Amino acid sequence: LVLILDFGSQYTHLITRRIRSLSVFSLCISGTSPLSAITSLNPRVVILSGGPHSVHTPDSPAFPAGFIEWALENRVHVLGICYGLQLIVQRLAGVVRVGEKQEYGRMEIEVEGNSGIYGNKRIGDRQEVWMSHGDEAVQLPEGFEVVAKSQQGAVAAVENREKRFYGLQYHPEVTHSPEGMDTLQYFLFNVCRVTAGWKMENISDEEIKVIRDTVGAEDHVICALSGGVDSTVAATLVHKAIGDRLHCVFVDNGLLRYKERERVMETFERDLHLPVTCIDASEQFLRELKGVVDPEVKRKIIGKEFIGIFDAFAHDLEQKLGKKPLYLVQGTLYPDVIESCPPPGSGRNHSHTIKSHHNVGGLPKDMKLKLIEPLKLLFKDEVRHLGRILNVPEAFLKRHPFPGPGLAVRVLGDVTEGNALEVLREVDEIFIQAIKDYGLYDLIWQAFAVFLPVKSVGVQGDQRTHSHVVSLRAVSSEDGMTADWYYFEEKFLRYVSLKICNSVRGVNRVTQDITSKPPSTIEWE
Ligand code: XMP
Repeated sequence: LVLILDFGSQYTHLITRRIRSLSVFSLCISGTSPLSAITSLNPRVVILSGGPHSVHTPDSPAFPAGFIEWALENRVHVLGICYGLQLIVQRLAGVVRVGEKQEYGRMEIEVEGNSGIYGNKRIGDRQEVWMSHGDEAVQLPEGFEVVAKSQQGAVAAVENREKRFYGLQYHPEVTHSPEGMDTLQYFLFNVCRVTAGWKMENISDEEIKVIRDTVGAEDHVICALSGGVDSTVAATLVHKAIGDRLHCVFVDNGLLRYKERERVMETFERDLHLPVTCIDASEQFLRELKGVVDPEVKRKIIGKEFIGIFDAFAHDLEQKLGKKPLYLVQGTLYPDVIESCPPPGSGRNHSHTIKSHHNVGGLPKDMKLKLIEPLKLLFKDEVRHLGRILNVPEAFLKRHPFPGPGLAVRVLGDVTEGNALEVLREVDEIFIQAIKDYGLYDLIWQAFAVFLPVKSVGVQGDQRTHSHVVSLRAVSSEDGMTADWYYFEEKFLRYVSLKICNSVRGVNRVTQDITSKPPSTIEWE
């Protein structure tokens, strides 16, 4: 195991992913975790991430007391990146001070001296790297040597081979450091002698075993499917482990996309052979949403309705089976787990509620169901890979994310007003189909249409119209936390706009949302 201690760098997840891409298992935990949390994982290598802090700031985050002694005693290799390097230097009685020249962006570094970490490079070799730091190490702890310097003469890489401590002042994990992956790979395989063996096939087998051991031979499990990638892959895995003791439910809340219920149910039954109970609760949801315009109130109502339905589903199962289902499957992913325990000062603790996101599978605490979260160590691309191994159809795995509250956050204002939902479904379907036809679907993180509660004047067939306005939104993003609007070619936009106005009754104006996140959010509500 390669353990990453997170000190708040925006690139920390990237280090974890890069290492996993070398078939080496890596985990990331908060850099301020107690020593027992680190030692219990028994890592071969620990990487200290970068971060936005200065080691001189009072209360700047640091690894726990005893970490250095533990690493030395257990012959663990430690690599500090950026702030991580400065922490090592400072804690081992070297000197870090505010750099005379701060270094941000692309820099050239030169390899000096015989080195462990650059063992595959020659002295004098130069490479471009991505720097982002204000402080610099000016006096190294005893036994450390400088093995690379920046073009400005600042320390770029240090090591103490005997103690197995290494440090890079730049970020090897970003693509702007073109040889960074090469260095990481050499460090892991040649310096730390880590072996590659972490494969998705093994994870699938291991998870199935863990699920079987957890659930035992008799107990039952429920799973709320949203039709999205995560819950589908999680359910497929659990189904493989315990068969028909898994009971899946798909709720039609009346806020689904065009023919979504039919499409999702067909995939589950035909392609995945997964028995799913479909509950049509559309009337109930729409009744509760009637007249509601406040986005937060809409979200809360939807969350409450879902909970009531899951509750009733669990109760029905208990009557039928004569036994309470004890477990609930959730498609929680690793970024959600990391986000829930960020290091102090990383700016990743969401102190403001921008939107009340709720997972479709969210159930009240008093249901006392125990959670099974088979994907909680995986990133989204790894979940897709696992899905492929489990034969989940490709079209399903590549689907854009869809929010739990569905079209309710895409019809601005009262969702039950007039035929807003029907109009939106048709417009959205034309837009998405066009994106697919133009071969753009996989290039876009998420695309959808929004129904605006305004009417505008138009002229169609020589007649004055007073009809609805819709907006098209498409964004590129890594993880949905930030996003940029997607640039469509004129030809595409002309085609979509014309097709929408010509085929959807009641729409005479198509607009495009050209706002990034921030300042907007991806969804409009
Ligand atoms: P925002 O609008 O906050 O969305 O920029 C970021 C990502 O999250 C999705 N989203 C949700 N997903 N329940 C979900 O499961 C929700 O309540 C919810 N709200 C937004 C959104 O579609 C985008 O991918």
